[in-house]
Amino acid sequence: MIQTMYKQFEQLFDVQADVAAFAPGRINLIGEHTDYNGGYVFPAAIELGTYGLVSKRSDDIVQLYSNNFEDKGLISFSLDELEFNHAHDWANYPKGIIKYLKEKYPNITNGFNILVEGNIPNGASLSSSASIELLTGWLLRQLFNLELSRLELIKIGQQVENEFMGVNSGIMDQFIIGMGKAEHAIMLDTATLNYDFVPAKFGDYVISIMNTNKRRNLTESKYNERRAECESALAALKQEINIEALGELSTDQFKVHQHLINNDVELRRARHAITENERTKEAFKALEQSDFATFGKLLNASHASLKNDYEVTGKELDTLAETAQQVEGVLGARMTGAGFAGCAIALVHKDSIKQLETEVSKKYQDEIGYLPSFYHVGISEGVKELTI
Ligand code: GLA
Repeated sequence: MIQTMYKQFEQLFDVQADVAAFAPGRINLIGEHTDYNGGYVFPAAIELGTYGLVSKRSDDIVQLYSNNFEDKGLISFSLDELEFNHAHDWANYPKGIIKYLKEKYPNITNGFNILVEGNIPNGASLSSSASIELLTGWLLRQLFNLELSRLELIKIGQQVENEFMGVNSGIMDQFIIGMGKAEHAIMLDTATLNYDFVPAKFGDYVISIMNTNKRRNLTESKYNERRAECESALAALKQEINIEALGELSTDQFKVHQHLINNDVELRRARHAITENERTKEAFKALEQSDFATFGKLLNASHASLKNDYEVTGKELDTLAETAQQVEGVLGARMTGAGFAGCAIALVHKDSIKQLETEVSKKYQDEIGYLPSFYHVGISEGVKELTI
C-alpha cells in the first residue's frame, strides 16, 4: 500500500515524501467503559490501520488528503488557523494533533503535506480516529525530530478527543495504538498507567471480528452521557467512602454502599463499571493460565452487563454477540469499543469459523435486514515509521 501511496504523493504534491508511518486500529478483549472509571482495560492493536506520508514545506501551509474521503478533496489551512472547523471533517483529527504539538514545540514553523489511507472500516469502533491521531503525531515527530515519547503522544491524542473533538473518552485507544506489541494484548491499569504485555494466544481458538455495518449515530453524546452518569454515581458514593474512582471498589464493597446512589440508572452504570473491572482482572488471569473457557464466559458476562446495566449495545450488536454465543465452537462473544454500533468479537475454534459466519450472517440478515462483515486479522505492534 505504501509504495502506491508514495507515487500518488508525488503526483499530488509535486514533491517526494520524507517520512512514512503506520498506526494500527484496535480491538478491546474486555474492560469496556472502565478506562474513564480508573479501571482495567485489555486491548490489542490490529493489523488493520492507517498509512501516511509527509513532506516538509517551505511556507506555513498544511495540506491534507485522505484516500478514504476523496469527496472532501485537499484540505488546506495555515499553522495560524488551527481551530476546529466542521467543514474540515476527518481532517479535524490531524488538525487537533498539529495544534497541540505546535503548542508544545513552537519551533514547528514549516507547513507540510500529508497523504493518508486507512483500511479500518469507518465507524466500526475499531478506533480509526485514534489511529489517525497517532499516525499524524508520529509523522510529525519524525519529520521535525521532536523529542516526544510514546506516552506524551498518547496523552496528546486523548487531549484531541477531549478538548478538540469534545468527546470525553478515556486513554485506552491511544494507549494501545501507541504502545501495542505484535501478538500481545496490553493489560492496562488506567488509574496508574502501569501495564503488562500478555501473549494474545488462544490455543486452537482465534478472535473473529464481526461488524454490524450499522451507521453510528449520536455515539458521542451518548458516550458523554454515560461518563457523566458514572461521575454522578461516584459523587454519591463519596458521601461515605473515600475513593477517587469507581475502579477502586470491588463488587462486594459496592454492594455495601450502593444504597447511597438513589437513581436507578446511575446505580446500574456504576455496577457495570465495577463488575466489568473485576471481569477484566479475572480474564487476565484466565488468559495467563490458558483457561480459554473461563475467558469466553467472561466475554459473555461482559456483553450482558453492557446490554442490561450500561445500555450501550442495541439490537445489531446483541444479535451478533448473542447469536455467536450459541454457535458450537464459540467460547464467548461480546461487543467491543464504545458500543451502539460498530463491532463485536467472538472467541471461536479455528475449525468453526465458517460455521460462525454462516449462522451469524443468517440470523443477522433475518433480524436486521442486511449482512454483517467478518475480519480475521493478526495482532499488530503500535504506531511506527515505515521505510520507503
Ligand atoms: C471508546 C473510547 C475509549 C473507551 C471505549 C469504551 O473507544 O475512546 O476510551 O472508553 O470507548 O471502553
